[in-house]
Amino acid sequence: MKDPRVIVCAGGGGVGKTTTSAALSVALAARGYRTLIVTIDPARRLAGAMGVPITDVVTPVPLPAARGRLWALMPDPRRSMGTFLDFLFADEPEAKARMLTNNLYLGLADAAAGVHELVAMNLVARAATEGDFDVVVIDTAPSRHAIDFVTYPARLAALLGGRTVAWLAGLAQRSGGATATAPRGLLSWGTGHVEHLLARVTGPNLVRDTANLFADLALVRERFVALTRRASELLLGERVAYALVAAPTAAARDDVLFLAARLEKLGRRPRAIVLNRADTQAAPWVRALREGHGVAPSITEVLDVLEQERRTRATAADALAVELRSKLSWAAVVRLPYVEASAPEDIVAALSTELDAHLTALLPDAR
Ligand SMILES: Nc1ncnc2c1ncn2[C@@H]1O[C@H](COP(=O)(O)OP(=O)(O)OP(=O)(O)O)[C@@H](O)[C@H]1O
Ligand SMILES: [Mg+2]
Repeated sequence: MKDPRVIVCAGGGGVGKTTTSAALSVALAARGYRTLIVTIDPARRLAGAMGVPITDVVTPVPLPAARGRLWALMPDPRRSMGTFLDFLFADEPEAKARMLTNNLYLGLADAAAGVHELVAMNLVARAATEGDFDVVVIDTAPSRHAIDFVTYPARLAALLGGRTVAWLAGLAQRSGGATATAPRGLLSWGTGHVEHLLARVTGPNLVRDTANLFADLALVRERFVALTRRASELLLGERVAYALVAAPTAAARDDVLFLAARLEKLGRRPRAIVLNRADTQAAPWVRALREGHGVAPSITEVLDVLEQERRTRATAADALAVELRSKLSWAAVVRLPYVEASAPEDIVAALSTELDAHLTALLPDAR
């Protein structure tokens, strides 16, 4: 089966990543691509705009414009780890039960940065295998490090595929097996220097918890490594395109340049810069008021201020487009208008129509 194409949307806070991802997915589905939209950011706004629940299960998106070809995966960070473990330990229920009471696991699952992204990407890797999608669109969190998650699966696969796991798993056996409840053997005479050192630095329970965690992980290592490799291929392979989303503000420009530099470090380049809210039409009610008769001078003044603001924004967008075209000359710059609507689904619908004309900028072989 062919791998899907993947489009990762990243950018600064509030620039419209979620809206753009949603609009892009709708445009792709409308064109006939079987599309999966994934949000790593638990954006309830997106769930609202698309009428689907936050869930770890791939769910059809009932928008008529998507013509039955759009699905969404919006994992809940608090629950996705559990769903993932159910899959991973499908054949090892006892190891799973131990894992769920392992203090280190509990701490990691709650606190470690990137765990949610990693779990979400493994869910995507699974969905890509089972769901036969043409394109997967990924909406990321508003962070300058949002793009770094593309490297997590590869790093984890290397860690799990390497000798560390075997060593740590062996540690657990020496300390009394994966089911050990006390660090008996570990601190007794005859254990290795490293183990003593680890125990001194971190305390005996942490060593035991680490060892047990890895012993249980070792039981499902092949499954884990295979899935994690696949997630890594999806995110760093030939078939991924990165779209950086910006709005015409100085902060958004800095974020885009930062993310482009970050991608460059990974040996990747953005395929497109989406300049959102770049062009503003005068609102219909403004035109209607202007054309109306007997409008009070104070209202005309307000309208002038609005018009001035609109022009300032357009000028800023033009300047930013010029700057980005020169600094990131390999990326297509796609301009999206400011949509005069308040309901998110209306904004998504309007932008999906706009994006339809630009699909080739993001998918090299778009039909
Ligand atoms: N082109 C547009 N015209 C009008 N409103 C827009 C446009 N793009 C986005 N919006 C609105 O701006 C708000 C922020 O958009 P969105 O949630 O997509 O940004 P984001 O980058 O995903 O934010 P976050 O960084 O919080 O994840 C939303 O209310 C959305 O409906
Ligand atoms: Mg968002």
